[in-house]
Amino acid sequence: MRGTTKANKRLYGLFLIIGQLVLFATTGSAQTVTIPIETAGHALVLQVNNHKDLNIIYLGKKLAQKEEYGLIPNSYRQYSDYTGLYNSAYTPSGGRNLLEPAITVTHADGNNSLDLRYVSHKQTSVGEGVSLLSILLQDPVYKFDVTLYFKSYFGEDVIEQWSSVSHNEKGNVILYKYASANVCLKADSYWLRQYHGDWAKEMQPEESRITHGIKTLDSKLGTRANLFQPSMFMISLDRPATEDEGYVMMGSMEWSGNFKIDLEVDPQNNLRVIAGMNNYSSPYTLKPGEKFETPAFLYTLSSNGKGEASRKLHAWARNYKITDGKGSRLTLLNNWEATYFDFNENKLVELLKDTKKLGVDLFLLDDGWFGNKYPRNDDHAGLGDWGENRQKLPNGIVSLVKEAQANGVKFGIWIEPEMVNPKSELYEKHPDWVVRQPKRDEYYFRNQLVLDLANPKVQDFVYGVVDDLFSKNPQLAYIKWDCNAVVYNAHSAYLKNQNHFHIKYVEGLYNVLKRIRVKYPDVPLMLCSGGGGRVDYGALQYFTEYWPSDNTDPLERIFMQWEYSYFYPALSSSNHVTDWGKQPLKFRTDVAMMGKLGFDIVVSKLNPTDLAFCQNAVKTYDAVKHIIFQGDQYRLSDPRSNSVASLMYVNHYKTTAVVFNYLVNNRYEEGSKMPVRFKGLDPAKKYRVKEINLYPGVNSSIDTDMVYSGDFLMNVGFNPVVNSGRTSVILKIEAAV
Ligand code: DGJ
Repeated sequence: MRGTTKANKRLYGLFLIIGQLVLFATTGSAQTVTIPIETAGHALVLQVNNHKDLNIIYLGKKLAQKEEYGLIPNSYRQYSDYTGLYNSAYTPSGGRNLLEPAITVTHADGNNSLDLRYVSHKQTSVGEGVSLLSILLQDPVYKFDVTLYFKSYFGEDVIEQWSSVSHNEKGNVILYKYASANVCLKADSYWLRQYHGDWAKEMQPEESRITHGIKTLDSKLGTRANLFQPSMFMISLDRPATEDEGYVMMGSMEWSGNFKIDLEVDPQNNLRVIAGMNNYSSPYTLKPGEKFETPAFLYTLSSNGKGEASRKLHAWARNYKITDGKGSRLTLLNNWEATYFDFNENKLVELLKDTKKLGVDLFLLDDGWFGNKYPRNDDHAGLGDWGENRQKLPNGIVSLVKEAQANGVKFGIWIEPEMVNPKSELYEKHPDWVVRQPKRDEYYFRNQLVLDLANPKVQDFVYGVVDDLFSKNPQLAYIKWDCNAVVYNAHSAYLKNQNHFHIKYVEGLYNVLKRIRVKYPDVPLMLCSGGGGRVDYGALQYFTEYWPSDNTDPLERIFMQWEYSYFYPALSSSNHVTDWGKQPLKFRTDVAMMGKLGFDIVVSKLNPTDLAFCQNAVKTYDAVKHIIFQGDQYRLSDPRSNSVASLMYVNHYKTTAVVFNYLVNNRYEEGSKMPVRFKGLDPAKKYRVKEINLYPGVNSSIDTDMVYSGDFLMNVGFNPVVNSGRTSVILKIEAAV
């Protein structure tokens, strides 16, 4: 094909299709099995060829006629001379394949080759609109099995893929690579949107064309795996997708540990996505009869741009993944930035009164409440010793929970149960519970070490931290679960095989979280990791919300929350109003309101007008939060390319919407000179637009008597009048009756 023109290529393509049809006709369907996985708009089509190889022959828009999937050419037959196994649904190594494998093994007899042939498949319904396909593959020479799983969510166009490996060889098998999924896309070019970051700098996007060869997204950090790079990404086909145009895949691992996603543009210009746990430092020894199951890789597809893809993910997350995804969320006052470690019972009692005064649902007590021999008065000591500090809290948490009740508010608490300070009683008592190299110096991240969750006793301890808190304080209403250190010197005193550490750690963490959810199914839990160091659906299935970043400068938060919003629904994004940044209180509050609202300010220091504003803001938020939590989100004006960032939420019936507008750049006094085109409304409905969350004494210039059709608001648009005098504007749109 080298040097062929476009027209020639098309002819060649036609020839391939005809060739395939002829082959199909002559060999008959007896030798090929076609397995389409269809969702509302898309299809992943697998086919077994006459060698019994399982290939992906199509991943794209659903065809109107299912039978026609059988006509899609099976690339393997056409290209086998070049690349051995082609578009394999799970590429083995050491045999006919020379591309990046999904699985690499050394058999019990020391042989390194693997061949996987189709044996059978089974498709079952596992819920309304949810089906599970499993496909059994076997090595024709070794007693080695792989089962591939495809869980598809019809309405949301989401597929979760994972694999399970087992064998009956005469000895152990070593798995050197074990991807969850091996997906294949076909286009002229591929465009990747990936993320990088650090503490207080999460979710920084980068977009580039994926060139031939392999681009890898990965983490080797262990616990706080996403600190530098999360596993979320987007791939657009042929050109970078925009908000409403272009074919796009959004994908992510459901795994809170090391991950590796290889994006390989192969010699035939296919994009192979091979995603799974990171095999870095982790060859896995599998005994005969044992089963090794990988976590899910999840993706959605859209042919209408990033906006639609993200709405599908939101719907999926709320319907199936996040704890209490269809429920509401609590507003709160957190004391972290208001006090840091410097508080006592009297101060907290005052803060509880402030919680009530502010009108939020809950007070969240952060770090610093525990440790006696080594009081937790800064981040050097006490972590691991979960008894209340008697000097700060002589009457314990129990009395604070009661005090909260007396004020008509709920009480929540911060913990970091996976970690330990070397200056702690826990460390003194159980040095063998700590992740560290026995013969090397300890090396700290935020003066702390990670506990060995591979050890069941440590799992019991961590579970006990939570269970104890709830047993002693049945009214406890919320937990913020933090995780501030990465894994240095990975070594478990418990495990016999150190190569299993990274996998066993995360499995241990999930065991604990599962136990917590069995006993406390509904309690709200915030997933925090020194900011957003651990935001992924593997963890989020146990949590109700996540902490995106310690950076609460509202200007920065607009950008971060914007990028997170592609992958996670607004009700899961904990956004707190703090003193970070130079923006006015209204701006800070308006930015926090685009997700789950909280405050981390000294309420008693607010002047009366600021206090009145905050109190009204909470009431305003309470009145619209159901739209933010459960409505469809539309991004209208991107902060990276415009002076004003705008995004909106529309309720299911398209009768009410909320639009958030923020000035992000004031060069040349630009502001919103142009109207913003709304989305998601009913073109035939009539709407009124009203500005909400005004600062006391400020009158809105927006005329609430005007009535516009949805058609007008979506095609001509509406100017929220954002400028240096009105840096943030929230609009409520309501169907006129
Ligand atoms: C890191 C978190 O991200 C903060 O919100 C706060 O809880 C501190 N840890 C407490 O140490």
